[in-house]
Amino acid sequence: MVAGMTESHPRISKAVIPAAGLGTRFLPATKATPKEMLPVVDKPAIQYVVEEAVSAGLDDVLMITGRNKRPLEDHFDRNYELESALQKKGDAGRLAKVQESSDLATMHYVRQGDPRGLGHAVLCAAPHVGHEPFAVLLGDDLIDPRDPLLARMVEVQEQHGGSVIALMEVAPEQIHLYGCAAVETTVDSDVVKITDLVEKPAAQDAPSNYAIIGRYVLDPHIFDILRKTEPGRGGEIQLTDALQQLAADEKVGGPVHGVVFKGRRYDTGDRGDYLRAIVRLACEREDLGPEFRTWLRSYVTEEM
Ligand code: UTP
Repeated sequence: MVAGMTESHPRISKAVIPAAGLGTRFLPATKATPKEMLPVVDKPAIQYVVEEAVSAGLDDVLMITGRNKRPLEDHFDRNYELESALQKKGDAGRLAKVQESSDLATMHYVRQGDPRGLGHAVLCAAPHVGHEPFAVLLGDDLIDPRDPLLARMVEVQEQHGGSVIALMEVAPEQIHLYGCAAVETTVDSDVVKITDLVEKPAAQDAPSNYAIIGRYVLDPHIFDILRKTEPGRGGEIQLTDALQQLAADEKVGGPVHGVVFKGRRYDTGDRGDYLRAIVRLACEREDLGPEFRTWLRSYVTEEM
């Protein structure tokens, strides 16, 4: 038996990445290109997300895609033409970069059809996931690779069972942009118990400043709930609504805990955050950073 696995508590090995949204905040760039393919320095945003799943030990990845999402599948597939051209040139460095994404994980794809909301996208994973707990990573949410979050969430799920969501403290005036959690403290300072969830509340109605961010480890009972979840806010089937039901009745799918994340995170579907992600990661890169930082410093002091 694999370490960390018992008969009643299977080791989590599957990651689901919903990437079927329309990306309207990024038009016109996303008219024909999925927003998850937009480069963050020199890698598409989605590759960071798949790398994060793999580094948390989840190498079976199901991507939920839709129309215009073919480039996502191509990116994680071999590209023989390019590979043989680079081989002929003897360019081993670039060849390795091309092969990196196709060697990363075992990739699976399912199409969502109509983008009827994040909850509906997660429900599309039910036949692949079966009856095991599984992780969900939003394709446009980038967690800085130096601040591991998912591995801690998997650990918390293995300890408590049930489901685990990721939370981040935000300013009260920002909370209306997120799902929000009502919580109770636990003995671990980075773990809270979720007692209620509200999707995008007004600041005065928010039960806390804890915003839900795009990482989840879910009990498979979520599928039964999602099948019965009516469209909510924005006419979409909301994952938060289904999670709220899980949190309300522990007998159904176990407790729901939250891991409070204090690291660096970027919403690459938001133009401002996308730019911040690129500048920050570029500054910190060994190959590009020194020159880019020098340029940025002079740009900021001379031009602004
Ligand atoms: P967003 O709320 O960012 O929506 O979805 P969106 O459509 O992608 O982007 P905007 O707001 O129009 O710019 C959060 C995540 O859920 C996925 C998205 O791909 C994104 O990763 N999603 C959303 C789906 O897979 N299907 C859906 O029906 C909705």
